[in-house]
Amino acid sequence: MIELTGAPAAESLLQQARDRMQNLPVVPHLHVVRLGEDPASVSYVRLKDKKAREIGLQSTVHVLPEDTTEAALLALIDNLNGSRDAHGILVQLPLPSHIHAQTVLERIAPEKDVDGFHPRNVGKLWLGQEALLPCTPAGILAMCDHYQIPLSGKHVVIVGRSNIVGKPLAALMLSRDATVTVAHSRTSNLPEIARTADVLVAAVGRAGTITPDMVKPGAVVLDVGVNRKDGKLVGDVDPAVREIASALTPVPGGIGPMTVAHLMLNTVVAAERQQ
Ligand code: GUN
Repeated sequence: MIELTGAPAAESLLQQARDRMQNLPVVPHLHVVRLGEDPASVSYVRLKDKKAREIGLQSTVHVLPEDTTEAALLALIDNLNGSRDAHGILVQLPLPSHIHAQTVLERIAPEKDVDGFHPRNVGKLWLGQEALLPCTPAGILAMCDHYQIPLSGKHVVIVGRSNIVGKPLAALMLSRDATVTVAHSRTSNLPEIARTADVLVAAVGRAGTITPDMVKPGAVVLDVGVNRKDGKLVGDVDPAVREIASALTPVPGGIGPMTVAHLMLNTVVAAERQQ
């Protein structure tokens, strides 16, 4: 089994970001907004800020209290939308339940939407038009490219239908001429469907979802899950799948670094398009 580690694949995305920054008249500035102290969000936002600074981007993290009103959050976004010193805007999810996330995501100027979650970017993705791409799905494609995993004509089964991973990944895989199945918690014959996958993507958010009986021998398995189990980070894929798959992404250190790296690239791309 080949371990598909994220670091070398992420490095090529980061190098692309650094190279493209050299041709810009400004240093791109990423603004990340976090509400409250959800431990996973604190950790993710810290990683994004650290990587941005590491590659020479400007990075500002706006930490707001958990009880911030939706109006106040929207006012901050309006301010960043109008600022020439904000090239990328990302509001870390999940948001507290008194805030309507979709309203917030739709307020971000599409050209600064480095998460690719604005309906205009989502629509362009599905139409095959140039858009800011969601970071995890785009990072998954970059991972496949780095390790030369063929996608054209292959059956890609995505388990999970979230707006952040499953749905946009389906669009990107279609753009690479894969045959795509999106399975989810209500899929009645998940093991049978999963076993037909050449490339199986686990994006559910529950440890142990993908068991060895669900994997075709020799399949490539991409584990997008990040779950805490006995104080340890684990993916959605049962470790016994290592014996069946030809290649598997580790958790941590697999897809995670690709997401962060693609965010850096998106920030540079957004800044380019704002010149
Ligand atoms: N929370 C978990 N994943 C993501 C992501 O890709 N973007 C944002 N904004 N929040 C997240």
